[in-house]
Amino acid sequence: KSKVTLATLDAMSASKTPITVLTAYDYPTALLSESCGVDMVLVGDSLSQVALGHDSTTAITLDEMIHHAQAVTRGVTSAFVFADMPFGSFEVSLEYGVANVLRMIKEGGVDGVKIEGGLEILPLVKRLSEIGIPVMPHLGLQPQRATSLSGYLVQGRTARGSLEILETAEKMRDAGAFAVLLEAIPSGVARVITEQVRGLITIGIGAGKGTNGQVLVITDVLGVYADDQDVSPLDIEMSTSALTTSDLGSSVCSPNNTNALPHKPSTAPRFVRQFGSVGQEARRAVRAYVNAVREGSFPDTKESYGMKKEEWEEFQN
Ligand code: KIV
Ligand code: NA
Repeated sequence: KSKVTLATLDAMSASKTPITVLTAYDYPTALLSESCGVDMVLVGDSLSQVALGHDSTTAITLDEMIHHAQAVTRGVTSAFVFADMPFGSFEVSLEYGVANVLRMIKEGGVDGVKIEGGLEILPLVKRLSEIGIPVMPHLGLQPQRATSLSGYLVQGRTARGSLEILETAEKMRDAGAFAVLLEAIPSGVARVITEQVRGLITIGIGAGKGTNGQVLVITDVLGVYADDQDVSPLDIEMSTSALTTSDLGSSVCSPNNTNALPHKPSTAPRFVRQFGSVGQEARRAVRAYVNAVREGSFPDTKESYGMKKEEWEEFQN
């Protein structure tokens, strides 16, 4: 597979070929997506929770993000790699934001950046685009604002709210953004943005099938943190889609979720679909290792080294 460029992504959008996006946090997760032909790899600041164990996305620093971006880019050859600018790395001033994005590009080695925000980040989006940095504003639900939003709430469910997202997307496009990420908004709104805002690629999570691409968190896809369950993949699919976020202002994640993991199955937002049970399999393997060592069945002779008889005898004398 050849390198995915902005031209590749534009062509995919023009031909209505869905763009596949997954998060990666280190070398093995990057290799996983790369080897499966994923089009874009996102070093998401969800790594704060799912890879570093923080209870929010706001805790992670730019230095930590860069450190992980370096590991991810070592594992990717063809996918387009972009990284989140973490909370605190771009709000202080335009100059500070630009300087930090340049660090992410130069030190992290990524192709572009994603930045959460609304109209207040327009000058930054414009400046970055002018200096040749691909930027994807993150609209709709912005996890970096979970505190001020009083939770992970679905956005744009009123006519006014949805119009605001549409207008913001248009302004982002005009400022030079190549794409927008749309999180947890009604699918109809995401579809209208995708169809009406020409020249802007839309990547959705919890935004329905009308976007140009889809993104999920890799640990959700793999079921790394999912509880053990003896169910078929079909059953998993049905049980997650049965989760409801009923009404206006309803929470994507349970508001009383004090767990460090944002997408634990018991509180998983409806947009999560678990495609594997890697956590269950990993725990099975670790339990088997612990048991084998305890009962003395690991290592066996085939897993051990011998030496020449003469050398052994001389050693023993
Ligand atoms: O940080 C993240 O993983 C993200 C995606 C879920 C969109 O921003
Ligand atoms: Na993020």
